[in-house]
Amino acid sequence: MLLQSLGLLVLTSKALAQCSRSQLQQASDEYLAAVKSGGSALDVGIYTENFASSTFKEGIHSKAIKVSAVHSLLDTTDCATFHEIMAHQNSPPMVIGTQIHYSGAKITKMETIYSSDKIGTFSNPAKTAGYIADEVRNPIPEAKRDTRALIKEIADQYFDKFSNGSIQVPHHTPCVRIEGSMRVQPDCTSGIMSAPGRKMTNRRFVIDEEMGTVSVFLWFNGEGATADGHTFRIEDGKLRYVHAIMVPTGGAKAKGGRGG
Ligand SMILES: *[C@@H]1O[C@H](CO)[C@@H](O)[C@H](O)[C@H]1NC(C)=O
Repeated sequence: MLLQSLGLLVLTSKALAQCSRSQLQQASDEYLAAVKSGGSALDVGIYTENFASSTFKEGIHSKAIKVSAVHSLLDTTDCATFHEIMAHQNSPPMVIGTQIHYSGAKITKMETIYSSDKIGTFSNPAKTAGYIADEVRNPIPEAKRDTRALIKEIADQYFDKFSNGSIQVPHHTPCVRIEGSMRVQPDCTSGIMSAPGRKMTNRRFVIDEEMGTVSVFLWFNGEGATADGHTFRIEDGKLRYVHAIMVPTGGAKAKGGRGG
C-alpha cells in the first residue's frame, strides 16, 4: 500500500515537471527583456559564466546588451530553455549561449557561455552573426519530428567522435558548422581531430523537438579545459547545422573557484 502510494507520488511529480511551450515562451521573453535592459532584478538561483560561478547581477547581464538576433529552444520535458544570442553590434561584440532551468516560474539554474572579440576559440561575433543569418530554421512539421532520444543520440555521437574517429555521424550534404570565424561545409563533421581518450564531459542537454535542435553544454577536453556550448539542428535524423561557442578557461577549475 505504502509502495503503491509512493509510486503514484513519483508519477505525479514527473507529470508536474513538464512545462508548456506557452509558459516557457513567456519565461524566454522575460529573460530576453532582462538581457536587453541589463541589471534587472530577475531572480536567478545558481548562475555561471563560462562555467565559473558568478551572479546574474555581476556578470555580463549587469549591463544592457545590444541584441541583433536570437534563436530560442523550449524544452517542455525538462522545463528548460536555451538562447543563442548574436550581439555583434554590442560593445564588446559577443555571441552568447544561455541554458536556463525552471521549477515552475522560478529560475533554479542559469548557465551562460559567451565569446567576444577578446575571448573564445576562433571568436569573431560579426562573422558568426553573418553566417547564422544565412540559415533557414523553420519549426519541423509534427509528422516529421525526430524523437528526443534520437536528437540526443546524434549529439552524443558527435562528441564521441572526438575519441573515436570511426564514428560516422549522420549528416545532410550540405550541412554547415559554424565556430566563430570558421564555417565548415558541405560536411559539418569534417576536420574533427580524434584522439583516444579525448574527453567531452558533463554534457547538459536542452532539447526542442519542434525545432529539431539540441543545446549541449560540456567541458571540451575534460573538466577545467574549455567551456563549450554546441547546438545541433537535426532534420530527418541527420545533422543540418552545428554551432559552437568555445571558451578556454585556462585550467581555472584546477586552480579552484570555477565550477561547472
Ligand atoms: C569506435 O566506433 C566504431 C563505429 O561506431 C565502433 O564499432 C567501435 O567499437 C568503437 N571503438 C571503441 C573503442 O569504442
